Amino acid sequence: MAVHLAISPAPAYTRGMLDTATNRPELPPEIARRRTFAIISHPDAGKTTLTEKFLLYGGAIQMAGQVRAKGEARRTRSDFMKMEQDRGISVSASAMSFDYLEKYRFNLVDTPGHSDFSEDTYRTLTAVDAAIMVIDGAKGVESQTQKLFEVCRLRDLPILTFCNKMDRESRDTFDIIDEIQENLAIDVTPASWPIGVGRDFLGCYDLIRDRLELMDRADRNKVAESIAIEGLDDPKLDEHIPADLLEKLREEVEMARELLPAMDRQAFLDGTLTPIWFGSAINSFGVRELMDGIAGYGPEPQVQNANPREVAPEEKKVSGFVFKVQANMDPKHRDRVAFVRLVSGHFKRGMKLTHVRSKKPMAVSNPVLFLAADRELAEEAWAGDIIGIPNHGQLRIGDALTEGEALRFTGIPSFAPELLRNCRAGDPMKAKHLDKALMQFAEEGAAKVFKPSFGSGFIVGVVGALQFEVLASRIELEYGLPVRFENSQFTSARWVQGDQEAVDKFASANKQHMATDNDGDPVFLTRLQWDIDRVARDYPDVKLTATKEMMI
Ligand code: G4P
Repeated sequence: MAVHLAISPAPAYTRGMLDTATNRPELPPEIARRRTFAIISHPDAGKTTLTEKFLLYGGAIQMAGQVRAKGEARRTRSDFMKMEQDRGISVSASAMSFDYLEKYRFNLVDTPGHSDFSEDTYRTLTAVDAAIMVIDGAKGVESQTQKLFEVCRLRDLPILTFCNKMDRESRDTFDIIDEIQENLAIDVTPASWPIGVGRDFLGCYDLIRDRLELMDRADRNKVAESIAIEGLDDPKLDEHIPADLLEKLREEVEMARELLPAMDRQAFLDGTLTPIWFGSAINSFGVRELMDGIAGYGPEPQVQNANPREVAPEEKKVSGFVFKVQANMDPKHRDRVAFVRLVSGHFKRGMKLTHVRSKKPMAVSNPVLFLAADRELAEEAWAGDIIGIPNHGQLRIGDALTEGEALRFTGIPSFAPELLRNCRAGDPMKAKHLDKALMQFAEEGAAKVFKPSFGSGFIVGVVGALQFEVLASRIELEYGLPVRFENSQFTSARWVQGDQEAVDKFASANKQHMATDNDGDPVFLTRLQWDIDRVARDYPDVKLTATKEMMI
């Protein structure tokens, strides 16, 4: 049964705090209306539920439950996906586009939830302009929230916070806000204030628009009743809130206004202040206000760093970069999809773009947009959008596509792996196939693959141990190849940089330690920090680095 939601236009913003004006007035309206963001959270805080409600209000799905149902249908297809389910981790990528209130186009980019996939997450976050941080009202800032937040901070991403599960016993509102301010070193400004907790939770006072939002416990998909209020002394409040809760609300809001910073859009855009909404995703409560917040505060598509110059979204010429490559999205078709963040211009299907790395033209004839869990051919797209380009391996992470200019987008790093293991095919006759499988995963960014200059086989590097299991099951599933990961004598890897002569000299003197990565770049495999210190001392002409920019 479809649930029909009467979505009324957003009410007038009585206090004018939701500033819908763009901070870049020169943006064409099609670009200014785009909001490209990710949701970050600790597992179980409610990211999936919130995503589902976003899609529901965006009209992308008809009924809550579809995302999960589709997810499960997909998972039954493979052991790998089953593992994803059993472990409660999400390793498959998705980007979803949908309209909100007709006026806005939201592009929601999914981030992998598990800490073992931090590099992948980092790269996903290079493709967005903002992030929504979901926290559980009973648990506050959890370990994974903290890690993901730090990744956002590296890019100064604007953050909107959603404190979920307010229908359950949750912590004191000031405690939650203090914890965010202290643990994450970011200022917090309340956009709404909860009334009552747990079973007594009634709803929120919307501090931005002076409205009372009342949660409907009987119908989880119903939008809250919204009542316009003229300040906290409005007698209408007495009609809806019991006296004790109302007194507490008045006291707390007064204190909050005195002690906490007011909304400041510039501070939000700079990533130093986060507005917080309180709600309950499962009860559809507070979700609309959060979506209005993204629509109103933005930001719209931002300028991207590149060499030799920055690229602005309003530029007429199309440009974009690959931030994720996913192979075997559909086991029936061995396609690879490169996820491209459009940085500038107005893209039309069939356009010929230049693949900057190879300097070759590329006709983009089958670009896809991801609408909820389905793919759809993208006839056009604008700066800010995420499109998927099916290809046979030409497109790699960090690659730029332009209308001819030799642009290289920066800030998409590859991190040195923290764990190394030798990878061997269970059947030695199939070693060649293993080569192909590993290269594919390296190009997807799922692992680092090093070919040592001495000996046979490969050394695979990852950030977290769980990735070895994921890789082993994917290689078996997608290539029919059982593999073993064995301990390696090496513990870490560093890229070697310097002029060609110095690097060659270094490589020939340290052959036992040398390998190449999947791009053919020289890598120094190490056992101890001592090795790295020794190189710094003995070879001042070369530099060992723990990150490599993924651009060529
Ligand atoms: P995640 O993607 O961040 O891991 O979280 P997810 O949305 O899967 O939510 C985790 C659990 O929390 C789910 O329960 C979900 O129903 C519940 N949940 C989400 N939002 C709220 C909320 O506002 N209030 C309450 N009380 N619970 C919420 P589950 O039992 O693990 O799954 P299910 O059986 O409900 O599907």
